[in-house]
Amino acid sequence: MANELEIRNLHARIVDGEAILKGVNLVVPKGQIHAVMGPNGAGKSTLGKVIAGDPGYEVTQGDILVDGESILELGPDERARKGLFLAFQYPVEVPGVSNANFLRLALQAKRGEEVSVSEFYAKLQKALETLEWDESILTRYLNDGFSGGEKKRNEIMHMMVLEPTYAILDETDSGLDIDALKLVAKGVNAMRGPNFGALLITHYQRILNYIVPDAVHVMIDGRIVTSGGPELAMKLEEQGYDWVKELAVAN
Ligand SMILES: Nc1ncnc2c1ncn2[C@@H]1O[C@H](COP(=O)(O)OP(=O)(O)O)[C@@H](O)[C@H]1O
Ligand SMILES: [Mg+2]
Repeated sequence: MANELEIRNLHARIVDGEAILKGVNLVVPKGQIHAVMGPNGAGKSTLGKVIAGDPGYEVTQGDILVDGESILELGPDERARKGLFLAFQYPVEVPGVSNANFLRLALQAKRGEEVSVSEFYAKLQKALETLEWDESILTRYLNDGFSGGEKKRNEIMHMMVLEPTYAILDETDSGLDIDALKLVAKGVNAMRGPNFGALLITHYQRILNYIVPDAVHVMIDGRIVTSGGPELAMKLEEQGYDWVKELAVAN
């Protein structure tokens, strides 16, 4: 069994609309963290949403495989059960449902069985400790009145408790001050290990100072046009995206 998240020649368009992804090829082996960078409008968030199974997009060609199995026919919940975590797939806010209850239900849905309160709280405690957070966040309604930074930190807490095999994190750094960014990075780094892979989608290099990726892929106009190590992110930071755009045209 292939231990990887594979995006194979993926083409996708807005339902009844324009093509956005035009042949994306990408492999994230379990145990690695890969970054997808690219200018605004390149299709990075669309890639994340298509992996999540967002019904607003349709795949016209290619495949998405989790450990060798196609997930294209699966709904978002089934994709979570296969081990995927997609932060931005989360509900905007859930009035009347506490953060902790929502998370316990999500964990039970993923596992397909009851999770004991003691096991659940042990996991919560560990995540809160890593994220240097107090318990008051647990009893609030999910995302209701959360600041941008709290939302992001909360997503990472959920990821830590759900223990996905592959996490897709889109612009996890946007709108965070440096202290919040460091804590989010601490959470992601705590997940690192042989049974965890992640795709970190980001416009800026900044977060990659704290979460050092195993590989960096650059997306332009719906395709990955070049890949490299962390030094590629530094080069983009210094030189911008113009030189990669030329590369994209040349190909
Ligand atoms: N649901 C949609 N409706 C209209 N245009 C869309 C939709 N989703 C994506 N797009 C367009 O597709 C392009 C890629 O968007 P996106 O994936 O958000 O790029 P990125 O995350 O790289 O900035 C943009 O031009 C965007 O306007
Ligand atoms: Mg985006």
